[in-house]
Order: sequence, then C-alpha cells, then structure tokens
Amino acid sequence: GTRKYLLGGNWKANGTVASCEKIIAEFNGAGPIPANAEAVVGVPFIHIPICLQSLRSDVEIAAQNCSLTGTGAYTGETCASQLKDMGVTWVILGHSERREGFGMAGEDSELVAKKTKMALSEGLKVMICIGEKKEEREAGTTMDVCAEQLKPCAEILSKEDWANVSIAYEPVWAIGTGLTATPEMAQETHANIRQWVADNVGADVAAAVRIQYGGSMKGANAEGLLAQPDIDGGLIGGASLTLDFFNCINAVP
Ligand code: G3H
Repeated sequence: GTRKYLLGGNWKANGTVASCEKIIAEFNGAGPIPANAEAVVGVPFIHIPICLQSLRSDVEIAAQNCSLTGTGAYTGETCASQLKDMGVTWVILGHSERREGFGMAGEDSELVAKKTKMALSEGLKVMICIGEKKEEREAGTTMDVCAEQLKPCAEILSKEDWANVSIAYEPVWAIGTGLTATPEMAQETHANIRQWVADNVGADVAAAVRIQYGGSMKGANAEGLLAQPDIDGGLIGGASLTLDFFNCINAVP
C-alpha cells in the first residue's frame, strides 16, 4: 500500500529523568527503523526537552495533550504553538484516559476536535484516539461509538487538515489489560472506520489516512496486527517504555 506505517509510543505519565535517559540510550542503540515505518514517541511534557536533545532524530516526539487555548493567561496549560516552537512535531489527542478524566472533567469529542484543529493550525500532526468500552463492544455499538467520536472532527477539519491526522483506534478494554483485540477483530473495526471516513470525509482521505491500533500491543503480537490491510501502525503504551517498542517497529510487513 501507499500508507507509511506509523508506530507511536505513549509513555503516559511514567518515568523520571534517570529512566528517561536509560530508555533514550536503549532506543538510540536499537538499529535502523524500516524505510516504510515512521516512529514517534509521546512523552510527558517535562521530558520533552531531554528527548529532543538526546533521542535519535528518526524517532519524532509527540506531546500527549495540548491546550485548546493559544498563549496567554491560562495557568497550567501548554499550547500547540509552544510545542511546535520547541521542536515537537506530533500531539496525541483524545486518548481514552483523557476522555475518562481520572477524577476531573473528561474531554468530549467536540473538545477533542477543537484541540485537533488548533494543533493542526499551529503545524503539529495529530493522532486522534477513539475506541469503544467493553460494554459497548458487547452491546454491538462499537462502530456507533467510533463514528460519534470522529463526527466533530469530520465537521471541523478540512481535507488538507486530514493529511496531518492519524486515527488511533484503541478499544478501551484492551488498554493496559493484556487483552489485545485479535487481528481479525481489529481489522474489522479498522475497515469500518475507513469506510466511515470515506462516507463522511471523502474516499481520497479514507485511502490515505493511517489507522493505528492501540491496546496491549507488543512485540509478540505486533506482526499479526500489522499484517492486516487496514492496520497502519500502532499506538503502544506499556511496551513503548522498553526496547520492545522496537520489536513492534520491526514487525512492519
Ligand atoms: O496509547 C496507548 C494505549 O493506551 C495502549 O496502552 O499498550 O499499555 O495497552 P497499552
């Protein structure tokens, strides 16, 4: 196919300066990245400078969130323009953990779409995360949930915007649980998502947009997932904190 594989790591709120230095050294020694793959790692804001300085330049840096606001009197926020200025190229938006809120107000799909527009307008690329919960899969509403989550993006984003977007399909029940979707199960949903994009954005965008799988992906299961026609990469949490991230990268067909 024409889509380049996108392997994203997501370190979430893990690590110290020391552990960061250790994993950077391991990644730097991990050998070449296949020509048909692109690697990005989503690191905590505070570890962005050390990664920009020391991490191999063929692994790009993503933030795990950005502000809906521009710069100004918004205490505690980090703006897309500031990330771009620093040398960050990607941002992960709408992760299920941020949608859930962990005790704070969670982010809804409207907010995620507005943040996406803001990030794109500042020149960042965006991984938009979507995915159903366990009870939603069991109720057979997986695609309805994914469609609802993508709808505000389809309304707000231009076709040009979509060139800098990747969709990360992450079934919530598979995140951090060790329960990976089977390649067949993931492929089915990826194909449905691509069809939805074709119907609601355009066939050209659907053919070009990358759809990453996330949820307990690791070196041991990456090959089967990445072999599927509509799985264009991964968004890897736990395994991206170790050298196993490179086993995922090297599992691209
Ligand atoms: O963004 C990454 C996903 O939440 C997957 O996390 O690989 O630890 O299940 P996990």
